Amino acid sequence: MDVLVAGGHGQIARRLERLLVQHGHTARGLIRNPDHAKDLEADGALPVLCDLERDDVRPHVRGADALVFAAGAGPGSGDARKRTLDLGGAVKCIEAAQELGVDRFLMVSSMGTRDIPDDGPMKPYLEAKRDADLALTDSGLRWTIVRPGPLTNEPGSGMVELAPVLGRWGNIPRDDVALVLYQCLFAENTVHGTFELLSGAEPVESAVLSFTNR
Ligand SMILES: NC(=O)c1ccc[n+]([C@@H]2O[C@H](COP(=O)([O-])OP(=O)(O)OC[C@H]3O[C@@H](n4cnc5c(N)ncnc54)[C@H](OP(=O)(O)O)[C@@H]3O)[C@@H](O)[C@H]2O)c1
Repeated sequence: MDVLVAGGHGQIARRLERLLVQHGHTARGLIRNPDHAKDLEADGALPVLCDLERDDVRPHVRGADALVFAAGAGPGSGDARKRTLDLGGAVKCIEAAQELGVDRFLMVSSMGTRDIPDDGPMKPYLEAKRDADLALTDSGLRWTIVRPGPLTNEPGSGMVELAPVLGRWGNIPRDDVALVLYQCLFAENTVHGTFELLSGAEPVESAVLSFTNR
């Protein structure tokens, strides 16, 4: 499988790319900083230079079997970049996938997008992520929306809880988010599924394979 990962030098993205490479797949990581190329090459991934807020992504989407949106403007980036990257970059990838017939699309979204506070520092970010999710659900693509809770760099446990609505908060290591994304690429039952994701008590593979939208 040839997988294009938007935000290819991101922390989740690199973990996912390494998993893909370990399992014999082609991982192409879309990056905007040429200095990041050597890190992807060391992971066995193929760096693709493209700034999602400036450049045409279509030449790179062409030929992919799946696209994973794992880019993010990040904390401290300002409200405007939530619209240009977290929303605008995602929409650019969705439209390119539609135009070029790349129908499998995974979105790294976020917990909290279902119930956005009236104000506060997270509002612009959560609104951008929610709007990107809505664009994807309206796209006609074979999408999966993964909404992790707050991310940590603890080693992955391989144990998660996922459901459309979890009704609790917690954390999740980036290792485990990457593993869930990897499994979703091969799990037909996650197509047209949206789920929240936290550390839990079920192995990733069985949690993904037993997911239903109900
Ligand atoms: N932090 C949390 O607790 C949390 C919780 C739930 C969901 N999430 C979501 O999970 C996503 C992935 O998390 P992460 O920790 O892996 O993120 P990350 O390490 O911050 O990676 C984000 C990547 O996006 C890239 N990017 C930014 N602007 C770009 C542009 N214009 N064109 C191309 N690439 C661009 C960044 O590249 P540069 O290095 O060049 O900026 C970076 O490599 C986040 O973006 C967030 O939306 C986060």
